[in-house]
Amino acid sequence: MKKNLQIAIDGPAGAGKSTIAKAIARQLGFFYVDTGAMYRAIAYKALRLNIALTQEEEIAGMARQTEITLEHSTARRVFCDGLDVTEAIRSPEVSRSVSIIAAYPEVRERLVELQRQEAGQGGVVMDGRDIGTYVLPDADLKIFLTASSEERARRRWLELQRAGKELSLAEVQRDMDARDHYDQQRAVSPLIPAADAILLDTTGLQIEEIVDRILSLFNDKVEDKVETGYVRSQNQ
Ligand code: DC
Repeated sequence: MKKNLQIAIDGPAGAGKSTIAKAIARQLGFFYVDTGAMYRAIAYKALRLNIALTQEEEIAGMARQTEITLEHSTARRVFCDGLDVTEAIRSPEVSRSVSIIAAYPEVRERLVELQRQEAGQGGVVMDGRDIGTYVLPDADLKIFLTASSEERARRRWLELQRAGKELSLAEVQRDMDARDHYDQQRAVSPLIPAADAILLDTTGLQIEEIVDRILSLFNDKVEDKVETGYVRSQNQ
């Protein structure tokens, strides 16, 4: 069976993954899958149900019974058990809690299963922390995006400001550093670049420059398939 084309984009918080992944997916006519949104939806549901974040078994059981849907239209709404949680999962409270539940192996198992199902639907750009290392090990292109901690915090702070959330830049940087540290240290699928990933430091770069760079890397990788019309047929 022919494998759908896959681009894996991993990296720490605020490296620009989702903005870049969305732009690439749009240009190639691929699906965009935001795996962080899935972990956020589980963290949000645990908070809403007042399940203590330390209750690993209870959270794993809840995750198995949770339905998460990512809308593929441009609105890209995120649904958890039919409820629109698109904005709710971006709250600072969810951001502070999500790494804890993302370290639980059974939660990851459940969400990886959903992520692979999504990748089975067509050409895909998927972003997260373990896409190149674990979720899509045979991805056609693997990118690991980084940027300085200061720049990443500043980007996230601007995003929160726009959404009307009043946190100081120092607070945002502290939360983000703590989350990255936790994501890098966990035992299961930690945040590390895949051996065959291309590292791109986005500090000081414009979004368009990075998108163009990745598209050109992708074209080089799949040149043979493009020549045979494989990429074109995937886009239709
Ligand atoms: O990309 P994001 O900031 O929305 O991700 C939220 C959290 O989810 C992040 O702190 C780590 C976790 N995550 C993960 O462990 N594996 C992924 N593939 C995606 C996200």
